[in-house]
Amino acid sequence: MAAATSATVDARAMFYETKDPHGLKHNPFKSLVVPRPIGWISSRDRDGRVNLAPFSYFNAVADNPPTVMFSAGGKHLEGGHKDTPLNVEATGEFVFNLATWDLRDKMNLTSATAPRDWDEFKLAGLTPVPARLVDLPMVKESPVHFECRYLQTVEVPTNDPNYPNKVIFGQVIAIHIDDRFIEDGKVNLAAIKPIARLGYFDYTVVETIFTMHRPVFEELTPPEEEGAKA
Ligand SMILES: Cc1cc2nc3c(=O)[nH]c(=O)nc-3n(C[C@H](O)[C@H](O)[C@H](O)COP(=O)(O)O)c2cc1C
Repeated sequence: MAAATSATVDARAMFYETKDPHGLKHNPFKSLVVPRPIGWISSRDRDGRVNLAPFSYFNAVADNPPTVMFSAGGKHLEGGHKDTPLNVEATGEFVFNLATWDLRDKMNLTSATAPRDWDEFKLAGLTPVPARLVDLPMVKESPVHFECRYLQTVEVPTNDPNYPNKVIFGQVIAIHIDDRFIEDGKVNLAAIKPIARLGYFDYTVVETIFTMHRPVFEELTPPEEEGAKA
């Protein structure tokens, strides 16, 4: 069926089907969905061992009730899935800690491909403080924590059938915010400086904030009239 537009795709634009090689030195996909917030997730295994790891396939997906997701792919050093999805599925809970500019190196350390019994809080020199509603440690040095109850896992297609991509959904049942960053009823993000993932080994930090209000319907010119004018 013909498209309802006379516009054509720019012939100079790079185009590739994702089943084929992209032809660039580095895969562009992850640098085109940016910036990605970092879910710095604490969890515990069935034996009570603590775990902490960052996931940039992380986001909020609903706010009533507040709901988040993260996605874990690939395998653990010791074989099998990564610790975090296994722990969350086994215990039914996890904590999101906000990764900030000040914590960037420690956050990165907790992504180390480490044996299952290593405690990443100790590895990175972070202080565990107990959450209130779930039996988990939170990163004391982080200014924001969400206590989450596991909802469900959705396995999305993978090119490595041994290691499905697990998208884990959780409901946020409690939120902690460091009082020092609440001003006039709002969270001062410019002071918190959250970091986020770009592509490759690049990150960004929230420093520039601008405000934009949604359009008021009554003030809009209907699209047909716009076209007729041209
Ligand atoms: C900033 C950052 C973001 C990451 N995002 C993801 C992600 O979205 N999904 C994933 O599977 N691994 C991701 N990783 C890699 C995991 O953190 C790493 O595999 C970690 O060892 C997993 O730990 P675990 O086995 O204790 O769960 C990321 C690493 C970093 C540094």
